[in-house]
Amino acid sequence: MSSSLYSLRWEAGELVLLDQTKLPGSITYIRCSTCEQVAAAIKVLAVRGAPAIGVAAAYGMVLALQEGLSRNLTGKELADFFDEEGRKLDAARPTAVNLSWAVKVMTDLFHHTDEKSVLSVLTEKAMAMEEEDKRLCDGMADNGAHLFEERKHLRILTHCNTGALATCGIGTAFGVIYRLHERGQIDCVYADETRPLLQGARLTGTELMANHIPCRLISDNMAAYVMAHEHIDAVIVGADRIASNGDSANKIGTYGLSILAAYHHIPFYIVAPFSTFDFSISSGKEIKIEERDPEEVRSFHGVYDAPKDIPVLNPAFDVAPHELITGIITEKGVLTPPYDAAIKKYERSLQL
Ligand code: MRU
Repeated sequence: MSSSLYSLRWEAGELVLLDQTKLPGSITYIRCSTCEQVAAAIKVLAVRGAPAIGVAAAYGMVLALQEGLSRNLTGKELADFFDEEGRKLDAARPTAVNLSWAVKVMTDLFHHTDEKSVLSVLTEKAMAMEEEDKRLCDGMADNGAHLFEERKHLRILTHCNTGALATCGIGTAFGVIYRLHERGQIDCVYADETRPLLQGARLTGTELMANHIPCRLISDNMAAYVMAHEHIDAVIVGADRIASNGDSANKIGTYGLSILAAYHHIPFYIVAPFSTFDFSISSGKEIKIEERDPEEVRSFHGVYDAPKDIPVLNPAFDVAPHELITGIITEKGVLTPPYDAAIKKYERSLQL
């Protein structure tokens, strides 16, 4: 990704977020000095993408602590304030598990650290999570690219945005694509525009062009045609929450792509780091799907494409069933069916 664009940055005790709702039209940054501002930015998708949401939330918890300390709260009062800010932040978006994971890590750390050093300990933890996210992206990219070794002229279809804008590194699914491009193996990346908020067109489009990756933008309803006529080698997408059986929630439209890929005998890969796994749930049925504002479907940037009062259904995510997933690319390797066993083994490897 061109170095001028980044999803988030910690600067002089504030969290600076690139306002992704304004891309590609304008490059605007939001400075957050409170946890409440971070929650609001997550809600409106100024910062989005599961790993970036997780790291933003970690810094949000640092801001909550800063605010509590600046109000001279101590002991139980400080702890109550911090926990309440954490609960509100956690409620900003329900599907990406990276959000609740980060809030929990920071909350646990807060309760196990003495008050004198807690601000520096939490700040260092958030910074470490940001650095770790970069390394995780590189690990996923290497493991994903390994699947295509010796292959040239690859045509990859992807969905939503999973790149530098969705993470703190080169991305999840986009990271794999980026690595393949570095190695001269990409012929073309087909990017779904990703209705209703166009993360594919606006964000992945920006990242593909910034990195000079050969690409073609398609509208979501062209995916079947493209699979039938354009010799697609693989579908590679990210995830927002992965259940213990491999069912994977990702941006709305991913479920449909998994079915289309199976019909066309095209490998379908999910790419995600450990923080996207929810080992506490047994299947995708337990994943809460975020339902967003109907206005997102009726209109775009305030311009209506539909009657203003038409009833709308707007689920932001869907679940690709594990049976249709060829492999889940992680920082530790590629998980393959049967996923129950592979994910248990992966979970154990994280505890070592
Ligand atoms: O609603 P968004 O833009 O946060 O949705 C993002 C996605 O669905 C991504 O594909 C997912 O978070 C994986 S990204 C690294």
